[in-house]
Amino acid sequence: MRILIVGNGGRESAIGWKLKQDPRVKKLYFAKGNATTEELGENIYEESIPELVEFAKSEEIDLAIVGPEAPLVDGIVDEFRKNNIAVFGAGKKAASLEGSKAFSKRFMQQYGIKTAKAEVFDAYAMAIEYVRQQQFPVVVKASGLAGGKGVVICEDLEEAEATIHDFMIRRVHGVAGIQIVIEEYLQGFEASIIAFSNGEQLFPCVPAKDYKKVGDNDRGLNTGGMGAVAPSPEFNGMHYADFERNIMKPTLEGLKAEGLNFKGMIFFGLMVTRDGCYLLEYNMRFGDPETQVLLPLMENSLLDVIEDCLEGKPVDLKFSDKKAVCVVMCSGGYPRNIEIGCEIRGTEKVEDALVFFAGAQKSGKHIVTSGGRVLNLVALGDTYASARAKAYDEIKKVSFDYGFYRHDIGKVNDK
Ligand SMILES: Nc1ncnc2c1ncn2[C@@H]1O[C@H](COP(=O)(O)OP(=O)(O)O)[C@@H](O)[C@H]1O
Ligand SMILES: [Mg+2]
Repeated sequence: MRILIVGNGGRESAIGWKLKQDPRVKKLYFAKGNATTEELGENIYEESIPELVEFAKSEEIDLAIVGPEAPLVDGIVDEFRKNNIAVFGAGKKAASLEGSKAFSKRFMQQYGIKTAKAEVFDAYAMAIEYVRQQQFPVVVKASGLAGGKGVVICEDLEEAEATIHDFMIRRVHGVAGIQIVIEEYLQGFEASIIAFSNGEQLFPCVPAKDYKKVGDNDRGLNTGGMGAVAPSPEFNGMHYADFERNIMKPTLEGLKAEGLNFKGMIFFGLMVTRDGCYLLEYNMRFGDPETQVLLPLMENSLLDVIEDCLEGKPVDLKFSDKKAVCVVMCSGGYPRNIEIGCEIRGTEKVEDALVFFAGAQKSGKHIVTSGGRVLNLVALGDTYASARAKAYDEIKKVSFDYGFYRHDIGKVNDK
């Protein structure tokens, strides 16, 4: 089979690595890919949806898989379908569950999905009037896609008013902030559950935990993700039963009632409080960096699972009992200004872990940095402690100027 994977992050490296293990996969193309995907297949430079459709037709692509949110929200899946190219991912309508936080909050409210109390605003004056009556902290969210920068937890009224002004009047996130969601602040721990959809049913992977803050012990700015661990060390069977009943089941009912059914991935971003699980958001795709820890634990062929989903068949996901820890190594300065073009050394010395490049490209004989999150190192072990020890032993062998990573990924109290 000839497969096209859209995206260029660590997630797409992991998807390609997993697919490549299936002997039926003959050729992988990545748009635009990175240093790992260049080894797994061929990186291509087509980028717009029409260019990718043309490419898929002329290269006789048997299956396309879409990683990032932007092309999904722009309707890439609908265009591929129209051209009779098999594609795994949410259509435009379903992708708006991620592309519009206003739409998704209304969906959650309408279908009784357990979520933080919230109101949607299109008018600045009304948002200000509302926020003056709230308790703090309060969470202000830009409705549209803002690359992970559109959510601010406001400690007091002053910060909330300034944030609403930034989003709605100054438009720091462009049109993404014209509409906002103001919601109740929830305290707890977060978990990510990613599920495959065959258009009728959802098939969840084991729960994962990601680390969003740039610094150790969750200090500092938000990032695209500094690491991940699977299964989530905190999310237990009781939490899962709560999630299934109060979030997953009503979500499936809502998807059916609204005709939003799709064959692709759905990601539940959860906050687990003393009152149980709340849904913070949907992402309509594989998570990054969660995918980098889930796929190495998955015992099925990813191609089989995707094909079964596309044919509307049930799938029986199997995960190993091991633990997976992913440490993300970043460019100095990330998530603010970064310098790129630094040579990455030592990845060939990594023996007992996987290296998935993200913001890294080949340049002649070398691999150089080309983005904020440069590479993901993933180690497996029988315990969290052994997986974590291995990950940190191996990542010591890797270096580039000003590169850094968190030191506390996968730290839990087991042996
Ligand atoms: N209601 C809330 N209470 C507490 N923290 C929240 C709440 N909503 C979001 N957050 C925090 O903000 C982060 C980003 O919010 P999310 O809704 O996932 O948007 P996005 O991922 O699109 O930026 C969450 O991972 C969580 O840490
Ligand atoms: Mg999120």
